[in-house]
Amino acid sequence: MIGFPRQVTACAHANIALVKYWGKRDAELNLPAAGSLSLTLAELTTTTSVRFVPGAARDTLTLDGHPAPEPARARLASWLDLVRDRAGSDLHAEVSSVNDFPTASGLASSASAYAAVTVAACAAAGLDLDQRELSLLARRGSGSAARSIFGGFVIMHRGQRDDGGDAFAEALSTAESWPVRMIVAVVGGGAPKAHSSREAMEHCARTSPLHAAWLQTVPRDLAEAQDAVAASDLVALGEVAERSALTMHAAAMASRPPILYWRPETLTCMQTVRVLRAGGVPAYFTIDAGPHVKVLTLDEHAERVARTLREVDGVTEVVRCTPGGPAVVVEEPTS
Ligand code: PMV
Repeated sequence: MIGFPRQVTACAHANIALVKYWGKRDAELNLPAAGSLSLTLAELTTTTSVRFVPGAARDTLTLDGHPAPEPARARLASWLDLVRDRAGSDLHAEVSSVNDFPTASGLASSASAYAAVTVAACAAAGLDLDQRELSLLARRGSGSAARSIFGGFVIMHRGQRDDGGDAFAEALSTAESWPVRMIVAVVGGGAPKAHSSREAMEHCARTSPLHAAWLQTVPRDLAEAQDAVAASDLVALGEVAERSALTMHAAAMASRPPILYWRPETLTCMQTVRVLRAGGVPAYFTIDAGPHVKVLTLDEHAERVARTLREVDGVTEVVRCTPGGPAVVVEEPTS
């Protein structure tokens, strides 16, 4: 590491999985038990600054202007050890992160957060890594973050190797020539969820009789979703996305004790999407580790879908999202 103090700011976008990641083959290396496929969204952004500070006693983390809860700080500190190891440094960092959407509410904040901190911390430490290496490193922070290194449609590989060297994400298509849209319906004000997705997926893998069956469905869904992206086939992609989300949630609900993310409004949104579809609007829902509903559609139907979801009681915000770009440094390193 050279030239201190040195602060780098990066931004990354959240991504929403259309074929879900829900289970690990190795907890320590954060290796997924199956692949996944996602769309990165321009309107959901995390901006993160990292500064390695000579003489600092420990890593600090500020989230949206407030000191982060200790578990989040400690998790980041152990991830920063990976960057320090690679850079041959023992300096601690000041990290400050701002989300323009509700944090830890099932809106995929860990994906954009770890993608942004990966790009910022590596640049601040003087590491010049390509996107694949950044994706491998982001994965150690959060599985879905490996995907937010890239823009557009992204595939995450399960990989076969024990050391995880082949468990990285890759861009499939920038989605530029295909006007797909994702309408995000925030349910219940975006309150923080009770369990992190990390804890929830581990609990599900340990206790749900349906977890193994869920994992068996992923390779076929992944292949079909890839074909649908390659063919710009929204109906095929939407059908895979709905069944992937429902199968993941079925496995979660069968955990003991159960994991139930849905609220009554979640079901109303799902039903609303089905009614829209019966009326000829191509719209397909997906749901992550929270109550919010994200709806895949095309630009020409986005306004109608957004308007209809806004009318659902208990939907507190509707965000119309477009495909987003990769995680990038937004300020050049200064010395
Ligand atoms: O990356 P994590 O550990 O926050 O897990 C993400 C889990 C889901 O959002 C529910 C699914 C996914 O593939 O993003």
